[in-house]
Amino acid sequence: MDILSIQNYSVSYDGLHSAVDSVSLNVARGEIVSIVGESGSGKSTLLHGILGLLPSGAAARGSLRLFGEELSQMSAGARRAMCGSRVSMIFQDTGRYMNPIARIGAQYNEFLRIHGVKDARRRRDLQREMLLKLHLTDRERVLHSYPFELSGGMRQRVGIAMAMSLQPELLLADEPTSALDVTVQAQVIRQMMELRQNYGTAIVLVTHNIGVAAYLSDRIGVMQRGRLVELGPAAEVIERPRHAYTRSLLDAVVEINDERLIARHG
Ligand SMILES: Nc1ncnc2c1ncn2[C@@H]1O[C@H](COP(=O)(O)OP(=O)(O)O)[C@@H](O)[C@H]1O
Ligand SMILES: [Mg+2]
Repeated sequence: MDILSIQNYSVSYDGLHSAVDSVSLNVARGEIVSIVGESGSGKSTLLHGILGLLPSGAAARGSLRLFGEELSQMSAGARRAMCGSRVSMIFQDTGRYMNPIARIGAQYNEFLRIHGVKDARRRRDLQREMLLKLHLTDRERVLHSYPFELSGGMRQRVGIAMAMSLQPELLLADEPTSALDVTVQAQVIRQMMELRQNYGTAIVLVTHNIGVAAYLSDRIGVMQRGRLVELGPAAEVIERPRHAYTRSLLDAVVEINDERLIARHG
């Protein structure tokens, strides 16, 4: 059974234009699918739809099934229970979703408690273990800090640590590393791959970095103006793109590399 099954799914914010237009995508257990595409192509809207995070004025059509259950028919309570434990989400600025007036350690502890980690010592160990995995070495200071006392990159890593703590079956990540510097980015990518390897977590990753997508994913989907215009095995999409738009995305990467070459040698 597919963990996530999307059929002819469309979203409109204004009732006139489709931000997501008839998208169909199935994600199997343990599979990593990257979604690339330019800004405004509907990537975030798609992920928000999966988590039931669309604003109240938005209208969605089509079918969205998680673990075989139609999302629109689930109760709010059942959905809440699923989010955080079976399904986790990482945003580009996860730090923004933290409580500004509670220390990191207290928030993290509460997050683990409400998601069923009953043993206080286990919660304590889990926090430290996850922060270490994300290379937050000064862990006691981090846990005793308020969100504003950390850099944006550190807050983001704490958010990623939290999202990964409960070994979700599905991780939805919306440009999770774009605000991080390159070494930390690589660390987060490795951590995602480890999560899949160790726990069979399926991942849907939205990224504008087609290099990251190629490195990490089993399949790559390309979105343009709300439509999923290309979807296939990563190597195939990179080596033999079918759609002109995918080719233009790949050409842009080559151009950036060329510029670097020129800068280095010129
Ligand atoms: N909350 C919103 N209200 C109205 N329009 C929105 C909202 N969020 C996104 N949009 C519009 O929907 C389209 C898709 O946006 P988005 O899903 O954010 O794309 P991406 O994540 O690929 O950059 C864009 O035209 C954007 O302006
Ligand atoms: Mg977006």
